[in-house]
Amino acid sequence: MATGTEPQQNSGGVHARTRAAIDAPHLRTDRWWLAPAVTAAGLFAFVVYSTWRAFADADYYSAPYVSPFYSPCLADRCRTMHGGPNADLFGSWWGISPAIIILIFPLGFRLTCYYYRKAYYRSFWASPPACAVAEPHRAYTGETRFPLILQNVHRYFFYAALLVAGVLTYDTVLSFRDSHYRWGHMGLGTLVFLVNIVLIWAYTLSCHSCRHIVGGKLKHFSKHPVRYRAWQFVGKLNARHMLLAWASLISVALADFYVYLVASGVFVDPTIF
Ligand code: FES
Repeated sequence: MATGTEPQQNSGGVHARTRAAIDAPHLRTDRWWLAPAVTAAGLFAFVVYSTWRAFADADYYSAPYVSPFYSPCLADRCRTMHGGPNADLFGSWWGISPAIIILIFPLGFRLTCYYYRKAYYRSFWASPPACAVAEPHRAYTGETRFPLILQNVHRYFFYAALLVAGVLTYDTVLSFRDSHYRWGHMGLGTLVFLVNIVLIWAYTLSCHSCRHIVGGKLKHFSKHPVRYRAWQFVGKLNARHMLLAWASLISVALADFYVYLVASGVFVDPTIF
């Protein structure tokens, strides 16, 4: 009688004919699916939220706060529609949401991030589903072919992410002004922006590419004490890369949501001083 656990003779992975048969039970029977399921739910929620906000093209500016999804405002329509600051690089011909220009860079950075790759390969493609769990796919080609070979652009997205973090730092400094652009103000939104920018920088600097740029290709750390110290610092952040990936993902969504609530008039930004 079939039990459902017999090797599938034509399948790949651990049941492939070319793999040595192991009689002893060696595949996981615990709730291994829980972590990928929770990851999938979290990523799906962010995709739904960010898609709604990116295409909403509204409620992304309330002085002095500009949503991180829309900053820097490169399109002319940012100013014409919302009176906010903009770089005016894209003229009036740009007819869709200005967020679409911006989000290519932070989303490209996260999409090609080593941690997120692991997360969505497991959660959405089950490739592999988890350690010591039978691979459902017949073949494994890794990231050696198109389109996944494009994941190698991550190191270049890292440089773009540095620029994005710089812009969000500038926005955070500007949030110390009041709605009439006078300095010396701090609202609840300023606090939200401060937490967000700390997490954004921590996530960006914890990047594996950053670690390699800072400390890679050196034969003797003793001859590069500054880079050695920087590498140690980045290494400590890098050890928490997954945590920082989630914390910054949530904080950037919350910062955008805060601006949405204030800009749409749900409540007035409380003043701290
Ligand atoms: Fe995750 Fe670079 S590896 S951001």
